[in-house]
Amino acid sequence: MKMHRLNNGLLMPAIGLGTFRSQKEDAYTATLEALKIGYRHIDTAAIYRNEAEVGRAIKDSKIPREELFITTKLWNTDQGYLSTKKALKRSLALLDLDYVDLYLLHWPKSYERTRDSWQAMEELYEDGFTKAIGVSNFNFHHLEHLFDTAVIMPAVNQVETHIELQNHKLQEFCMMHGIYLEAYAPLMSHHVKELLANETLKSLAEKHHKTPAQIALKYLYERDIIILPKSITPSRIKDNFEITDFELDDVDLETLRKLNKARKIFPEPDNIDY
Ligand SMILES: NC(=O)c1ccc[n+]([C@@H]2O[C@H](COP(=O)([O-])OP(=O)(O)OC[C@H]3O[C@@H](n4cnc5c(N)ncnc54)[C@H](OP(=O)(O)O)[C@@H]3O)[C@@H](O)[C@H]2O)c1
Repeated sequence: MKMHRLNNGLLMPAIGLGTFRSQKEDAYTATLEALKIGYRHIDTAAIYRNEAEVGRAIKDSKIPREELFITTKLWNTDQGYLSTKKALKRSLALLDLDYVDLYLLHWPKSYERTRDSWQAMEELYEDGFTKAIGVSNFNFHHLEHLFDTAVIMPAVNQVETHIELQNHKLQEFCMMHGIYLEAYAPLMSHHVKELLANETLKSLAEKHHKTPAQIALKYLYERDIIILPKSITPSRIKDNFEITDFELDDVDLETLRKLNKARKIFPEPDNIDY
């Protein structure tokens, strides 16, 4: 599996397990199962309310901490200089870890709140509580505002990305600034059934003896986008990890590119009321 080198030299596995909407015990069993299969990258967030279970699974897996890549996120109501510092320490206590590998600012809020939270995140990074810092749900203008005051550039921007929302321009912009694009909802989240029924994906799946989900994930993986498929089903956790034993050719990639509809499933970051 590919590892990406972030702008501070840290290596990040290109595939991680998502845990959004995984209830506590499901998050525990899914994380443990994923680690058993070979995943070394887990994505959680304070708002998912499963950091303790993810942490327990990490401990029970007995995998050395330095082999793992753990991400958590700063929730919106914790934004602000002091509250950001407290929030990461609370997440670390729940995860029972001394540091995370990536701490993400979950959603952009006001210019001032983002600036103050980011300053706290930079200090948390300098103090060793996280190996890298990044953002999530940031569009071009949110990034440009952040660049005005940031001392440390974000390493990652985690945004909704899938076959119907391909984000080519945002990825180009991010890469130009040394920021990796990370895809959340890579299987279209609660619209996964539509993705599985897509005729183009179905025919490419047949051609490569894979599933439509594996084709959709492989397309993002090939584009050097970090992916976070979520599943609590052991067979799917395994399938989502087995995308490195086949190749999409140029015609396949061009066909998949045509599925882009710029269709967003999650809210626009400027319109959220949470
Ligand atoms: N930063 C943000 O604001 C943000 C927002 C959303 C998500 N995320 C992160 O990104 C991760 C992924 O996004 P997501 O959870 O919304 O959606 P997703 O990974 O696109 O889709 C998850 C859905 O697909 C199903 N599924 C998974 N693998 C499958 C397969 N091989 N075949 C058929 N169905 C499959 C899952 O079912 P089962 O679980 O029942 O198997 C679940 O219903 C999240 O878990 C979270 O870590 C971040």
